[in-house]
Amino acid sequence: MSEKLLESKQTVIKGELQVPGDKSISHRSIIFGSLAQGKTVVTNFLDGEDCMRTIAAFQAMGVSIEKHGQTVVIEGNGVENLQEPIEPINLGNSGTTARLLLGVLAGLPHHFTLFGDESLTNRPMDRVVIPLRQMGAMIDGRENGKYLPLAMRGGNLSSIAFETPVKSAQVKSGVLLAGLLAEGETTVTEKTTTRDHTENMLQAFGGKIDTNNGKISITGKQQLQGTEIHVPGDISSAAFFLVASTIVSGSELTIKDVGLNPTRTGIIDVLKQMDVDITVVEERTIGGEPVGSITVRSSTPKGIIIDGEIIPRIIDEIPIIALLATQANGKTIIRDAEELRYKESDRIASVVNTLQALGADIEATKDGMIIHGNRTLSGGKVDSYGDHRIGMMIAIASLITEQAVTLVNPACISISYPSFFEHLKKVSR
Ligand code: S3P
Repeated sequence: MSEKLLESKQTVIKGELQVPGDKSISHRSIIFGSLAQGKTVVTNFLDGEDCMRTIAAFQAMGVSIEKHGQTVVIEGNGVENLQEPIEPINLGNSGTTARLLLGVLAGLPHHFTLFGDESLTNRPMDRVVIPLRQMGAMIDGRENGKYLPLAMRGGNLSSIAFETPVKSAQVKSGVLLAGLLAEGETTVTEKTTTRDHTENMLQAFGGKIDTNNGKISITGKQQLQGTEIHVPGDISSAAFFLVASTIVSGSELTIKDVGLNPTRTGIIDVLKQMDVDITVVEERTIGGEPVGSITVRSSTPKGIIIDGEIIPRIIDEIPIIALLATQANGKTIIRDAEELRYKESDRIASVVNTLQALGADIEATKDGMIIHGNRTLSGGKVDSYGDHRIGMMIAIASLITEQAVTLVNPACISISYPSFFEHLKKVSR
């Protein structure tokens, strides 16, 4: 396993940064571009490993997808022309590819086999398999289809009215995509709002979808038209640098052109509640998604309670928020976040174990964690658990540790942020 030595206390964080394109939006641009008729051009596409899995899956179904740097050109031929892949589809580490693709494949009259890496193989798929079976897809797999590998035969779907038992945009999106390929009107009801990029992007491709009080309705068999998509910067990637410039004293950083979709901006709300010096400027709309620039100056945060409705809006940012909380005045409590247990690692366990190993005062609870602030972090050898967001949290922690940090398995960071270390170097003075 490779290791990376991270020297401690070398820097302040200064200047301007443009983070790579949003992971969720990049996945969806490939999916809708492949379902649509005609050419789709995607700019500022995230070329992380996860999004490349989505590209490979649709290429295996005969879609022409060409990538030149961060620009992707998709020649869509419509749903009817998606072909049966010859080989099993490798989903790698990507939960989004898995859950969203399952929804699409459920609507196609072909046979598919799907597998992933060790992490993905242990993440629950039944949350989407169960509603897709109700719609008529035939799906089987390990432990009765709870886990990958899965085999399935899709086609001839009927619509359903589905209430999501889990707070998951992936599940919502999987069912909505199947609904797009089914007969009749499918509705998904969610008790807590999750990211709505699927709904937004469907409309960008000329589709119709209605949202009313947590009830999302989609009529099947709509014809989508190829379009141009500009992917905004990923706020989940920006979060690592927002926290870095908060905790490293003397820092001031502006991150330009970050996606500010309200279903994703919980990190900004949390930082404001913690009294972090943060401002958002140049707000505007590009391609249906709000974007803006965020400036953070170093400051001492205060501990807060984080729970309820905000959790899906910060679900990927909790590891880096936990690091921030170790530096806050007072105690931070994170609750209602049991979903963290089903991410690329069990993020309650991996965050708590890693920060404890670095000298933090943090304990795990059933659905979150309790973090006591004002701790000096030591250093040492810690593992990313093969989880990109844990790896980046460790790298940011090393900016304030007393001793150097050795990060075991840094390579996973390229899942969502291949240029992370390059960017860290760029803003380090
Ligand atoms: C995603 C939704 C979230 C998030 C993941 C991307 C998406 O997962 O953690 O990184 O693109 O829909 P859940 O919706 O399962 O919580």
